[in-house]
Amino acid sequence: MTTAIAANPAEATDVLLAWRREFPILEHTTYMISHSLGPMPRRAKAALAEFTDTWATRGIRAWEEGWWEMPLTCGDLIGSIIGAPKGRVAMHQNVSICQNIVTSCFGWSGARNKLVTDGLNFPSNDYIYHGLKRQGARIVPVPSDDGMTIPLERILHAIDDETQLVSISHVAFRSSYLQDLAAITQRAHEVGAYVIADLYQSAGIVPLDVSALGVDFATGGSVKWLLGGPGAGYLYVRPELDAKLEPAATGWAAHAHPFEFANGAIEYAPDMHRFLNGTPNVPAMYSARSGYEIVNEIGVSVIRAKSQRQTQLLITLADAAGLSVHSPRDPEQRGGTIILSVPDAQGRAIVAELGRRQILVDFRPGAGIRIAPHFYTSDDEIAHTIDALSEILKTMR
Ligand SMILES: Cc1ncc(COP(=O)(O)O)c(C=O)c1O
Repeated sequence: MTTAIAANPAEATDVLLAWRREFPILEHTTYMISHSLGPMPRRAKAALAEFTDTWATRGIRAWEEGWWEMPLTCGDLIGSIIGAPKGRVAMHQNVSICQNIVTSCFGWSGARNKLVTDGLNFPSNDYIYHGLKRQGARIVPVPSDDGMTIPLERILHAIDDETQLVSISHVAFRSSYLQDLAAITQRAHEVGAYVIADLYQSAGIVPLDVSALGVDFATGGSVKWLLGGPGAGYLYVRPELDAKLEPAATGWAAHAHPFEFANGAIEYAPDMHRFLNGTPNVPAMYSARSGYEIVNEIGVSVIRAKSQRQTQLLITLADAAGLSVHSPRDPEQRGGTIILSVPDAQGRAIVAELGRRQILVDFRPGAGIRIAPHFYTSDDEIAHTIDALSEILKTMR
């Protein structure tokens, strides 16, 4: 039996459902996993064909005809989603590399050697920070009591005049908790610390403006809400920092005159190019671009309005089915995913059974089943997912 959804005027007028045609996988799959890997847009196939055609017909000339500058021209498409000025977002392979670039801008052996990180941060970021201990860094994680939220005051309190960098996951991957970046950045700047925001779980689903927030660095990737292919991470750096920062993790593309091939110490480019390193991942950028174009065409505030409505629908149906919600109930405090708690021992089996039923979600230990509607999701798919999940859980009891 299918959970009845009260006739919903919002769904009846949901023009975003017309976008379903752009995503072939939606024809046969209930795709609730754009917090992990979004569905491929049809346009991505054409974009990848453009890559191979360009390579085939233009050969090495492709570098000067666009490929070399692609980390910044492609980055501009993300810039308009996250509020960065033109030329301030550089593409890199992934968030982990961007974190390494940022942390390599600082010395960690002096008195200002604290790196404050939120306890809900993505583990990859933690691994990089803990590696800085051998350079003298003190890593200060701010814990979450419930595995879902972190009191803002606790984070603000941890930031002091020994803090060099504050790392915040804008939306936590484990719980969808949306953190107050503005307040955290204000506090960090009061004491002379820098802020790096991980936007992977917010860009494309939560409206944000890195310029207005004042964050110093922001990073994220393409495969989730931005509906791009893998290997296309991005880094934003606040323009005023070019004059101050020299990343030790570097390469020839960061040189002021890369084609002079000068040996010895680098002369950094005066602008965002200084945060590049080696040869860019060109096919990845072709594979990711279409998703950014679509998100730009729709607009993140339109996406957010639908997301808040549908995450509320998910919570309502989960409550009715007696499932336990591991995400904030206040729509202003959550991103686009709803996490439903299940016993850790059963999580992967539940995901596998849902997969057999062509419903794609995932599981994170200590958190639960992550379910993500996006702009192409219908209300029926949400009801279908909750019905299937409760049915599977009953058979497991
Ligand atoms: C919030 C967040 N940050 C970072 C990552 C990992 O980024 P990457 O694989 O690009 O290093 C993920 C996800 O997979 C994530 O959810």
